[in-house]
Amino acid sequence: MKLPDRVTICEVGTRDGFQIEPDFIPTELKVEVVTLLAEAGMPRIEVTSFVHPKVVPQLRDAEEVMAKIRRRPGTRYAALVPNDKGAVRAVDAGVDAIHTVVSASESHNLANVNMTIAESIQKLTAVMRVAERARVPVGCGISTSFGCPFEGDVPLPHLESVVRRLVDIGARAVGLADTTGMANPRQVGRVFDVLIGRFPGVNWTLHTHDTRAMAIPNILAAMECGVTHFDSSVGGLGGCPFAPGASGNVCSEDLVHCLDAMGVETGIDLDKLIAASRHVQAIVERTLPGQIVKAGKATRRYPLPDGVAARLPGRMTSDSQNAAGSRLGTGHPAIAPASRPPLQ
Ligand code: COA
Ligand code: ZN
Repeated sequence: MKLPDRVTICEVGTRDGFQIEPDFIPTELKVEVVTLLAEAGMPRIEVTSFVHPKVVPQLRDAEEVMAKIRRRPGTRYAALVPNDKGAVRAVDAGVDAIHTVVSASESHNLANVNMTIAESIQKLTAVMRVAERARVPVGCGISTSFGCPFEGDVPLPHLESVVRRLVDIGARAVGLADTTGMANPRQVGRVFDVLIGRFPGVNWTLHTHDTRAMAIPNILAAMECGVTHFDSSVGGLGGCPFAPGASGNVCSEDLVHCLDAMGVETGIDLDKLIAASRHVQAIVERTLPGQIVKAGKATRRYPLPDGVAARLPGRMTSDSQNAAGSRLGTGHPAIAPASRPPLQ
């Protein structure tokens, strides 16, 4: 497997996740979550979106959230915008980066932002001008890149034409979003192989949803193509309110755990991220889809069941178990977990 040494993760839980929560999350709590994520070492956070407050009432406090967050050096605080009005609001609120949105399918674009793709591109041209004047970098996301919940397949030439139009208006960073988890790893590999070849110099991001349990496999496929930027959300929060069947993004701590295990650096402190995820679960008052919070890290070990220790060949002590683990090259104790782990 050909993997990069290091990848950059952008946390989108407070935007993609909180936008779909049934109850309004108080501003102070949103700010608290952003702080915990930054303290865990998240290099990028898509904090909120500057969209119509009646369309996404959950994020109507975007200005207030941006004003209240304590900036951690090294973290880039971004926001999603659909048009120039959103870009002006975002710049005035002091974002470090603007993320734009347009869909690869006409029907999803109309459902999401009430514009045709051509109308969106016009608005995004104005967004680029606003951002350029303010010297704020822009990342251009394309929803439904791998399939549309209304139209089904999105032909690659069609996706390519949307990328072309974005590049023509000045996009240098482009994100492909699998809005409702329709992509599969082979498709992700094929799409990136073609587009990376056609648009040299573009920095690519993959934005995944784990609707059909293919998010991490899709990320691995993209990494094999050389993609090094990924969006994820703490706890696996998320979903587009305007895409039926959308569910959470790939879970941040599950992704970081997977990357850590493979030796791919993220700069993120997994334990702090897990603590942030627990905090978010308490705020939304439900169990989130993330697996690591439930299972613990792969390094987790359980006490031996009664009677097993005495019957182990050579009566392994916990020290010799650890040494055996190191000899196996795992760096972890050699004893497998008990079949029925104690509940936590
Ligand atoms: N922020 C706040 N208000 C906005 C706005 C923005 N970014 N963009 C437009 N508006 C206001 C306009 O000023 C206008 O206000 P007025 O009625 O007081 O004059 C009103 O909204 C209508 O403007 P219009 O350009 O016709 O917008 P619209 O009603 O067609 O809505 C969007 C277009 C893009 C603003 C809206 O569909 C939207 O916010 N979508 C967000 C979707 C989203 O967040 N999806 C999930 C993330 S992928
Ligand atoms: Zn999304």
